[in-house]
Amino acid sequence: MADASYVLNVSPVIPVVTIDNPSHAVPLARALVEGGIGIIELTLRTESALESLRLIADEVPDILVGAGTILTPSQADAAVASGARFLVSPGVTVALLDHLLSLEVPVLPGVATVGEVMVVLERGLNAMKFFPAGPAGGPSYLAAIGAPIPQVQFCPTGGVSLSSAPEYLALPNVSCVGGSWLTPRSLVETEDWAGIARLAREASAL
Ligand code: 3PG
Repeated sequence: MADASYVLNVSPVIPVVTIDNPSHAVPLARALVEGGIGIIELTLRTESALESLRLIADEVPDILVGAGTILTPSQADAAVASGARFLVSPGVTVALLDHLLSLEVPVLPGVATVGEVMVVLERGLNAMKFFPAGPAGGPSYLAAIGAPIPQVQFCPTGGVSLSSAPEYLALPNVSCVGGSWLTPRSLVETEDWAGIARLAREASAL
């Protein structure tokens, strides 16, 4: 299993993106690149998510494309087969963690408690997604985890916005944040790629 630290250092924000229509995948990814974002987490929450993943992997070489919402080992395998270059899960089970560790791609397991952080750390991983960041306790919670466990770097995701991102990014144990605010459904459905590039530009300047 490859080290996931570099995944956290591509851009200050990992856009968490859900695509219904695969024809939106490539222009959306290009708009993010135009706005200076070099990474995308495509959620496996739609029927055609794997098709969108494949299109981005094949046609937008300038973006590091990963798959999010990995809940099962078979989803992880399907995502890798479709071109995912990293995997993100909202939480971990022992079975999922074992499987993710057997793969070649870097993984960001989701954690929300100190015990979960310790379980993942025990397996040799020190890059994790903190989810759901806002409801689980926000920046002060992550700062508190950093006292006993400073060696873990987090990507807080869930309830993070352009305005709340700086407070997370100022923490020594946060390398980037994740969020869906760069690709709102209203802009995707109207194919407003310039609007998405604008949101990406704001985010990449964080
Ligand atoms: C995720 O899967 O990481 C979240 O759905 C993203 O959370 P957000 O919509 O609050 O940014």
